[in-house]
Amino acid sequence: MPDKVIICFSGTGNSYYVSKILCARLGYDQVILGPDVLDRPEILGNPSEIGVVFPTYSGHPTQNLGPLMINVLSKPEFDRLEFFFAITTCGLFPGHSLKIAEQLAMESNILCSFLDWVKMPDTYVPMAPIPSDEVQKEILSKADQKINEIATRILKNDFAIPRRKMLTKLAFKRYCKVCSRPGVPSVHASDACTGCEHCEAVCPRDAITMESGKPLFNSNCENCLACYHFCPVHAIVLDREPSGGYTYYSNRFTGYCPDYRQDSGDKQEHS
Ligand SMILES: Cc1cc2nc3c(=O)[nH]c(=O)nc-3n(C[C@H](O)[C@H](O)[C@H](O)COP(=O)(O)O)c2cc1C
Repeated sequence: MPDKVIICFSGTGNSYYVSKILCARLGYDQVILGPDVLDRPEILGNPSEIGVVFPTYSGHPTQNLGPLMINVLSKPEFDRLEFFFAITTCGLFPGHSLKIAEQLAMESNILCSFLDWVKMPDTYVPMAPIPSDEVQKEILSKADQKINEIATRILKNDFAIPRRKMLTKLAFKRYCKVCSRPGVPSVHASDACTGCEHCEAVCPRDAITMESGKPLFNSNCENCLACYHFCPVHAIVLDREPSGGYTYYSNRFTGYCPDYRQDSGDKQEHS
């Protein structure tokens, strides 16, 4: 069982990219995908160090973070935990994400020693098209520097946490409410869908089931757009056409392409 792990949630691979590099720099044992931990908490073992890396959606952590912290990591079985940190990736600014992660840790009786964020290419196409390759390169090069800084600070026990406003109880309550409220998917499959099931495989929220060869979205959907960005024939379309047109992104550098299907047996990443 791993002793030092990064638990990663990721829609389109940005958080996975950060996780993989951090894991190598910190000398951690493994990156474990968060949805797999939620499904089978026993794969986590009893590590002494845990980092969580997750995306910011609408100024909040992915809705998967709440159940991980409250249902899994709060268990008394995790009695070897000595060090915990949280990193979010975002396109512009983390909003409430870090404060909510910190609060979730507190609610789980975990001391969060280090918090930070990494700016990555923004995947929220309803707001703006995916940046050009050139701009993506610049963002990733700055992200690499930031990840190195984070690793250096963690290794040197330099745990200063960025200055931030206190989280209001209201913002935390709102996040908890959103986590338990049914989501409203803003995507659907067009006639171009070939029924390949790729969308179902990459969905980190278990929000897609195949019905008569087409994806049906359920209320777990938090609109992370993994299905949209990964569809090999671009058959997942937004209910409202994005003003900047249809553009697509997945972080290609780590080969992130998970398979979260219920029936995929020993769930693993596939290429
Ligand atoms: C539904 C959605 C909402 C988002 N909201 C924000 C946001 O509020 N602030 C921000 O800076 N970036 C936002 N983003 C951009 C993502 O946080 C960013 O691209 C992140 O790195 C995606 O990580 P992933 O590839 O691991 O899913 C959003 C992206 C999506 C898909």
